[in-house]
Amino acid sequence: MSEKHKLLLFMIPFYLITLPLFLLIFSSLPLHQFSELSVLPPLPSQTQFPNFGPSSEGTICPPSGALTCDENQAVLKVYMYDLPPEFHFGLLKWKGNGNETWPTVNDPRHISPYLGGLFLQHGIEYWLTLDLLASNVPSVVRSCSAVRVGNSSEADIIFVPFFSSLSYNLYPRPLGKAKHALDQILQEKLVQYLFGQDLWKRHGGKDHLIVAHHPNSMAYSRKKLASAMFVLADFGRYRAKVANIEKDIIAPYKHVVRSIPNGQSAQFDQRSILAYFKGTIYRKDGGAIRQELYNLLKYEEDVHFTFGSYGKVGINKANAGMAISKFCLHIAGDTPASNRLFDAIATRCVPVIISDEIELPFEDVLDYSEFCVFVHASDAIKPGYLLNLLRGIEVDDWTKMWVRLQEIAPHFEYHYPSWPDDAVDMVWKAVSRKVPSLRLQLNRKNRYSRSQPTSSLSTTVSRIKHH
Ligand SMILES: *[C@@H]1O[C@H](CO)[C@@H](O)[C@H](O)[C@H]1NC(C)=O
Ligand SMILES: *[C@@H]1O[C@H](CO)[C@@H](O)[C@H](O)[C@H]1NC(C)=O
Repeated sequence: MSEKHKLLLFMIPFYLITLPLFLLIFSSLPLHQFSELSVLPPLPSQTQFPNFGPSSEGTICPPSGALTCDENQAVLKVYMYDLPPEFHFGLLKWKGNGNETWPTVNDPRHISPYLGGLFLQHGIEYWLTLDLLASNVPSVVRSCSAVRVGNSSEADIIFVPFFSSLSYNLYPRPLGKAKHALDQILQEKLVQYLFGQDLWKRHGGKDHLIVAHHPNSMAYSRKKLASAMFVLADFGRYRAKVANIEKDIIAPYKHVVRSIPNGQSAQFDQRSILAYFKGTIYRKDGGAIRQELYNLLKYEEDVHFTFGSYGKVGINKANAGMAISKFCLHIAGDTPASNRLFDAIATRCVPVIISDEIELPFEDVLDYSEFCVFVHASDAIKPGYLLNLLRGIEVDDWTKMWVRLQEIAPHFEYHYPSWPDDAVDMVWKAVSRKVPSLRLQLNRKNRYSRSQPTSSLSTTVSRIKHH
């Protein structure tokens, strides 16, 4: 064990003791100060907490108490449409009393859970909506980056609470004799609704935020709503005009394997597998590389490379396998991103990213090269290249990445109520960083709002030219 390593182990109890103290001290300050303060470095320890349940169980949560979010100090003010429940919690079989649009969220035990299994990986729409609802409930202690405001003129962004991934996952195809899938019908209703709103018309939807995390969600409406800011998993199935890194946000998948607490994470020597990959084969598009890598690596003793989807047993096996692997391969599939990267982070297995088109969440504040190895697909399929590279990474170098993984892992955990700098909070902050450029765009458009309308102006110009 290196000196640095010993020091690190020594530091862990130190953090565990001092952090609650630190939180206690800062609890007297408005919470936003704390969350700003802690953008980086992130929360030092991360253990497995249930997504639901009183968050005061976790030592890294803000202490409970009357911490109301001051909307003037939030980094993002959000106006949320009161869409009918069929677009959101109704999809989870929630039935409000009479005309209720939203569930009450003060008691996490009484909130309809999102669907489990692989559905959960795209549940971002749910976590964000819940967080906004909670921002109006003083008894819910949460991070205060985003606040829901009732007056749309005061909002930085207009949130469209459609659970589009859930809608796709549940109703991708027509039921019975129906002509259209319910998912398609909901999308068409949504477009009609939005196009009828003055708020949409004001800026052509540019200041609207739509979550479409599943790569197939919003397939019928994405083009019509393309002016909005999207929250996506990647741009793989989008044309550049519809979605791009300038206007949109990449949010992490919720990992499907269990998170390994930092204190229990195996060190270099305890990881007997050099490289781990489990996934499905894709022979089309960018995914053909999986097959090529399989052919290259299948006879290597210290490489675990299997094809297959995660079943329940599959998830547990993957969990155990990744936890004792030094490197976890993230290879492009049918889309550039997948939950594998986030599963690797959850198991503190250094990700090796072989996916040239991948876009990464929060990359404007996170330097992934500190905790990931990137390999061009064209290099990875050269015989010997990948294994030479990975075997050449020494203990100290690997350990640095592993330590950094432990620090950044909390940014990829979704919680309700949200924690400072968890995935929910990070998404809101990423949106808030887009707001100034959005405003610049909208203001520039207003420059000539008092002059002649452009249409008549251009006719005048063309008439002059024709003379
Ligand atoms: C629902 O709203 C309608 C119209 O606003 C009202 O007449 C009706 O009494 C409401 N029903 C309940 C159960 O609140
Ligand atoms: C909404 O906010 C705007 C701008 O601050 C203000 O002028 C307006 O009066 C507010 N409307 C209501 C209903 O409070």
